[in-house]
Amino acid sequence: MDTKRGGASDAANAAREPAIASTAPSSGPVVLSRVELEAWGEAYGREVSAPRLVAIDGDLGAGKTTLIQAICRGYGVARDVTSPTFALVHEYRSRRGPVFHLDLYRLRNADELTNIGWDDIVNADALVFVEWPERAGARLPATAARISLAHVTGRPDHRALSAT
Ligand SMILES: Nc1ncnc2c1ncn2[C@@H]1O[C@H](COP(=O)(O)OP(=O)(O)OP(=O)(O)O)[C@@H](O)[C@H]1O
Ligand SMILES: [Mg+2]
Repeated sequence: MDTKRGGASDAANAAREPAIASTAPSSGPVVLSRVELEAWGEAYGREVSAPRLVAIDGDLGAGKTTLIQAICRGYGVARDVTSPTFALVHEYRSRRGPVFHLDLYRLRNADELTNIGWDDIVNADALVFVEWPERAGARLPATAARISLAHVTGRPDHRALSAT
């Protein structure tokens, strides 16, 4: 898929970037169909590199999991990415290293964050996605990349996306 990416030029690009820079371009807000949103996610996944924590906010059904699935395809996660509603955290393997997918919707308290290994996960050399990041409060690292998704009035098959 991304066999044309050269390791040396990747390293050179990484060296030029400040540590907290988002590895994909800032975007938005843009209004995207599902196909367009998935294409955006796959492109983001091809560009992003670990360590990176991506906080994705948006209402129920805004498309957070759909976007994460697309980013994971671009990143090279082999097996299907499902919504971790009941598990709070899922870990996937990719040829570029581990991927963690956290869904904090059902988080009850800060102790639960500790119990799922939050501190290790956010400091891991991994690609980390967090749905419902606001539930982590001040424990969400300030260096997280932010993507926001929102429903669009009158356009049920489109979503507004912005990224910083
Ligand atoms: N333009 C679009 N982009 C993304 N999803 C869309 C779009 N249009 C319609 N959808 C649909 O909206 C739903 C989004 O569901 P998804 O599980 O990704 O949302 P979510 O933000 O993860 O919700 P939750 O907060 O419940 O986890 C899917 O059924 C998807 O097919
Ligand atoms: Mg979801």
